[in-house]
This record gives sequence, structure tokens and C-alpha cells, in this order.
Amino acid sequence: MPDDLSIDNIAGIGPVTKQKLHDGGILNIMDLATRNISDIADLIGGDSEKASDFITKARSYLMEKGVLSKDFMSATELYKIRKSIERISTGARNLDGLFEGGIETGAITEFYGEFGSGKTQICHTMSVVVQMPKDKGGLDGSTIYIDTENTFRPERIAQIAENRGLDPLKVMERIIVARAYNSSHQELLLKAIGKYIENEGVRLVIVDSVTSHYRSDFPGRGTLAERQQRLNGFMHQLLRTAEMYNIAVVVTNQVQSSPDSFFGDPTKPVGGHVVAHMSTYRVYLRKSGKARVARMVDSPYMAEREVVFIVSEKGIEDAPEDKKK
Ligand code: GTP
Ligand code: MG
Repeated sequence: MPDDLSIDNIAGIGPVTKQKLHDGGILNIMDLATRNISDIADLIGGDSEKASDFITKARSYLMEKGVLSKDFMSATELYKIRKSIERISTGARNLDGLFEGGIETGAITEFYGEFGSGKTQICHTMSVVVQMPKDKGGLDGSTIYIDTENTFRPERIAQIAENRGLDPLKVMERIIVARAYNSSHQELLLKAIGKYIENEGVRLVIVDSVTSHYRSDFPGRGTLAERQQRLNGFMHQLLRTAEMYNIAVVVTNQVQSSPDSFFGDPTKPVGGHVVAHMSTYRVYLRKSGKARVARMVDSPYMAEREVVFIVSEKGIEDAPEDKKK
């Protein structure tokens, strides 16, 4: 992370504008570069041209400092960046295999599936595993866990930690939980996470689930456009946060359980193309008796194949017959 991230480095931002940005939670250049144009415009009094200019300058500044990759680059440079991606184990080796070793930093990974398919259990397990050293599948990092459904359970974290040979109290200390009570609050929480990411050594951000509030806050046909637009803004900002801080982002998404006429196919994830488009990796989960089956869906370079895992006292792990192999 570069030392000087002060807003003062952006030409055209005077003390008054700086104060307005500060009041809106934009404390440094990283914050500025992750926000949407409309967010910034709202803060500085509606001038979206200016807002766009500030964001562009912030991004250029970060490119110069090597935090953001350049807009144009050679395949060799891109290859080097791909090589620098780090991975976090999901806790189950078979599932890791879908990602060639674990979920990637700098990207969004989406797990979607019906209720009970293991989405929340994966989130719990990963918030423990990310704390482990690199040779054990972690990144020695902390987690920010945005819980929208009130299903985060510290007791479960303690159990997973203990069964993986870690000190439960220390592990819980490094998971920062934020309850989001509606979609606007969920958006506010995301805007505030920059300082936690830096101060607490966060390497994983979880949003479980990313769509549930949008579904209930914008229920009908008439609000669909707004829902998709808001969700799109949220996903964009998540992706920029992942890239800028080189952290992994995991989101969960339900499949639509009530087949109503407009939202269509009951096996399709909520949020449709918006979440799909912004997620770098998408994994579909389903139940198969006691086991859970995961399949990578439309991945940029990995083949579609299925793997099996189970939910256990370790969180999630390989099925016993697979561990013997
Ligand atoms: P929704 O959020 O309802 O859409 O479902 P989900 O995909 O998040 O499901 P979740 O991850 O909550 O998975 C629930 C499954 O994990 C259930 O089959 C539970 O039986 C199992 N499970 C939950 N907690 C525990 C636990 O402490 N121990 C074990 N062994 N299994 C658990
Ligand atoms: Mg859940």
C-alpha cells in the first residue's frame, strides 16, 4: 500500500470539497477510487463531471503507484499479475480443485444454490481457514463478514476453529461481523470497510447473502429496474474493492424458490445477470443426500465439473471416501 494516499494529491480538490468527501466517509484516495460517480456527485453537490474527473484522477494515481493495474498492458504484464494472485482454501480440497487451489484474491466468487446447500457453512469455514498460514491454505488474514440473514454464529466459528487445531478465541477476534438490516444499510457498510481492511489485515470479505435484501426491498415488477441498478452498483463497488486491496470476496445467492411469473425460472439465482456478470467465479451448489455437490459455472478458463464435499464439525471438508485417496 503506498504511503501517501491523502486526498490532497488529487488536483482540483480544495479544502471545502475535501471536507464534504470526508463527511461522506471518503478518507483517502483508495476510498475515492472505489466509489461510483453518483456517490461522489451526491457528496460534492451534484456535479457528476467533476465527480468522474476525481475518480479518474484517483485511479491514475493508484496506477502510478502500482496499486491498480494499467488500463492497457501487454499479455506478459497481465500474466505476471495473474501469477501474483493469492488463494484461500475453502476448507475442502475437492472444492478447492474447482479453483485450482482455492478462491482467488482480486476477484468475486459467488456461491449459489437452494436453502441448506451449504453456502453459509462455506462462509463460516473460510473465515477460519483464511487465518491459517499460507502452507495450510490461508493468507494469515482477517475477515469482514457482512451478514444479511442473521445466520452468522460465533459458536460455529469456535467449533470449526477448535476442530482445525486453532484457538477459538483468537480466531473469533479476527472476524469482524456486520449485520446489514436492509439494502441501503448493506451499501453503507460496504462504503465503510476500507479502513477496516487496512487496519485489521483483512484478506477476505464475505457477503451472505448479497441479494436477499434487494429481493425483499424491491419486491415487484415495478421496482425491478431500480433493484437491478442498485445491485449492480453494489457489485461494482465490491469488485473494485477486491481489486484495489487484493482481497478475496465471497458472495452467496439463493436460487429463486417461488416460481412467480415475472422472475421466472425457480432454479435461477436471484439478481440474474447483474450478479452473474460481476462475479468472476460462480459455483452452483446442490444437496445430494448428506453430501453437497458443487459445480463451477461459466468460468473464464476452468472446465465445468462437479465435486463433492460434506458439512461437518470442521465446517466443510472432503467426504470421508475422498480423503482416503
Ligand atoms: P440458506 O441460507 O437457507 O439459503 O442455506 P445455506 O446454503 O446457507 O445452507 P447452510 O450453509 O446453512 O447449510 C445448512 C446445512 O449445514 C444443513 O444441512 C445443516 O444440517 C448443516 N449444518 C449447519 N450447522 C451445522 C453444524 O454445526 N454441524 C454440522 N455437522 N452440520 C451443520
Ligand atoms: Mg445461508
